[in-house]
Amino acid sequence: MSRADMELVKDQFVAATQMAARAGFDLLELHCAHGYLLASFISPLTNLRQDEYGGTLDNRLRYPLEVFDAMRAQWPAGKPMSVRISAVDWYEGGLSAEDSVQVARAFATHGADAMDVSTGQTVVDEQPSFGRSYQTPFADRIRNVAGVVTIAVGAISGYDDVNSIILAGRADLCALGRAHLYDPYWTLHAAAEQDVALSWPVQFQRGSRKPPSGRADGPRPRLELIRGATKSRHRRWRPAPSH
Ligand SMILES: Cc1cc2nc3c(=O)[nH]c(=O)nc-3n(C[C@H](O)[C@H](O)[C@H](O)COP(=O)(O)O)c2cc1C
Repeated sequence: MSRADMELVKDQFVAATQMAARAGFDLLELHCAHGYLLASFISPLTNLRQDEYGGTLDNRLRYPLEVFDAMRAQWPAGKPMSVRISAVDWYEGGLSAEDSVQVARAFATHGADAMDVSTGQTVVDEQPSFGRSYQTPFADRIRNVAGVVTIAVGAISGYDDVNSIILAGRADLCALGRAHLYDPYWTLHAAAEQDVALSWPVQFQRGSRKPPSGRADGPRPRLELIRGATKSRHRRWRPAPSH
């Protein structure tokens, strides 16, 4: 990338920021993860530059921070900005968990409100260590070592996982992806099951309670075949008599 290319792309990020502000978004996130352009500056595996934008981590952060600064200047001061990072590259010689603490500190110093902590997707032959909530240890480290607000993400399965992560002080927020593909009403259902008041869209309000499922849950099943066998309970379902 030439200096002119860098200016052009920075201006495009700024234009996107202005559009997001006009559209009324509440949060703006700068993507610096997963091998995308800004991530490719930060990782030593992909940044092979010989100028002041390559080499040390400080140098590799220079352009992503320039872009961040330009966006922050256009984004309303009262609204938060987060930065998505790959905390580790899962590859020998790549970004380490220690590096990610430094990366988080740098963005926080420049006015980032939270780090959205992902990992990897920098090189195709990465060796990730998958598992339930597998990226949470990196959010935990950034939160508790750098003192920066974090969003944990990655194979967080249910609201029990979310509550455990938040209560243990491992992250400030959890973000779920695939769980929402499985159940687009995941958030509404998690709230209903925990008796948290949340306003449902008017059209769905009649479905805002979990339907009875266990044998012991009321109402009692109607098993009688003969109408009227249970008297008044079913009388009201009879069609009105025709005269
Ligand atoms: C269909 C799909 C598309 C995704 N696209 C992107 C993407 O464009 N950029 C990105 O950073 N992450 C993307 N992700 C990753 C999610 O942001 C998230 O980190 C990932 O799904 C892990 O969280 P989960 O285990 O709760 O799904 C995508 C995930 C899915 C399932």
